[in-house]
Amino acid sequence: MRITNAQVKNYAELVDITIEGERISTITPSALRPEEDRRADDYDAAGRLVSPQFAEAHIHLDYANTAGIPRENSSGTLFEAIEIWADRKTQGFHIKEDIKAKALQAARRAAEHGVGFIRTHVDVTDPTFAGFEAIAELRDEVREWCDIQIVAFPQNGIYAYEGGQKLISDAMSAGADVVGGIPHLEPTRDDGVESVKWLFDLAEKHSAPIDIHTDEIDDPHSRFVEVLAAEAAKRDMGAQTVVSHSVAMAYYSPGYLARLLPKLAASKVRFAVCPNENLHLQGLGFQGPVPRGVAPVKQLTEWGIPVSFCQDSLNDPFYPMGDGDLLRILDSGLHVSHMLTASHLKNALSFITTNPAGNLGLDNYDIAENSPANLLVLDASSEKEAVQRKASVLLSIHRGKKVLSREPEQVDWNI
Ligand code: FE2
Repeated sequence: MRITNAQVKNYAELVDITIEGERISTITPSALRPEEDRRADDYDAAGRLVSPQFAEAHIHLDYANTAGIPRENSSGTLFEAIEIWADRKTQGFHIKEDIKAKALQAARRAAEHGVGFIRTHVDVTDPTFAGFEAIAELRDEVREWCDIQIVAFPQNGIYAYEGGQKLISDAMSAGADVVGGIPHLEPTRDDGVESVKWLFDLAEKHSAPIDIHTDEIDDPHSRFVEVLAAEAAKRDMGAQTVVSHSVAMAYYSPGYLARLLPKLAASKVRFAVCPNENLHLQGLGFQGPVPRGVAPVKQLTEWGIPVSFCQDSLNDPFYPMGDGDLLRILDSGLHVSHMLTASHLKNALSFITTNPAGNLGLDNYDIAENSPANLLVLDASSEKEAVQRKASVLLSIHRGKKVLSREPEQVDWNI
């Protein structure tokens, strides 16, 4: 197929994008196309922005649409959510077919908002493996319209949960793609440090990337991000290492942060930040000025450290909102990070396209000749406008195949 009259980053004029098989074969100036050259499979973007498909670098599909079961999170805190989740697993609510149906609903919502690639953390601290098996099946069944990577995520810890080490090892042997972890929930600081080293060993054993829930706690003394960066640097695994959440960084003193940031940049680790959910979860119960618990995205970005903005949860015990809509997440993330300046807005979509694609280990994610054809037509003329107006996804193409399309919104004024 061919998308005509497209606006593409780094091209001064409108272009025609021709897709053959799974790849973009040519990008040529629209002005050079003869008037009579019309094809049945042309899609006229009419000057609109064409962007890479959105990539969701951090979500929990196995938790999706479980809010209220077995009970509501009445305090709204992260720790009550973890308790509810543990009860859910032991009280017979955690059933494979149900998890799969709810996760499919969530993945479809994300796809409708332009997402074509998902990295989902899946709780493996459950001897039945119901969640893992459900999402592994889903991964195979939706491959045509969405690529899913599974992180083997020990929600209750590898030492704090009996048999945790074996469960995560088994999940990796059974086909999980990425090693997860949660050092700040292990019994002691020393256990947390030990867990990071053990998880890196596991990742090396499976030649797998690593993506750790790091310091997701309102505690300035939670400092596992430096442990992660040091371990990644030592093993030369920074590019395969993702620091997820890292909300304690929002509480670090300027002095400590100043020492930490260059070490993070040198280690080459990447970040996955979930602003909407952490704005909801963090800082609850504080008196006086309320910290908001989102990692310092602006500083990380200024140090050249790639940051992705991610959904995290979708209608589960942790977070009652969420619709898989990364433009909404991006809007909040830019606001809370004080990044509404022209230079940041110009490249705003990188937080939900090329940066998360890097977290997922995807190469050539830009719109360019010979790149895989994973792209969107957005109802906007610039990246700034796409965020400002929360642009509709008018066309979504995954690996060269049209996944979905919708008409531009039409408003009829009655006055
Ligand atoms: Fe998470």
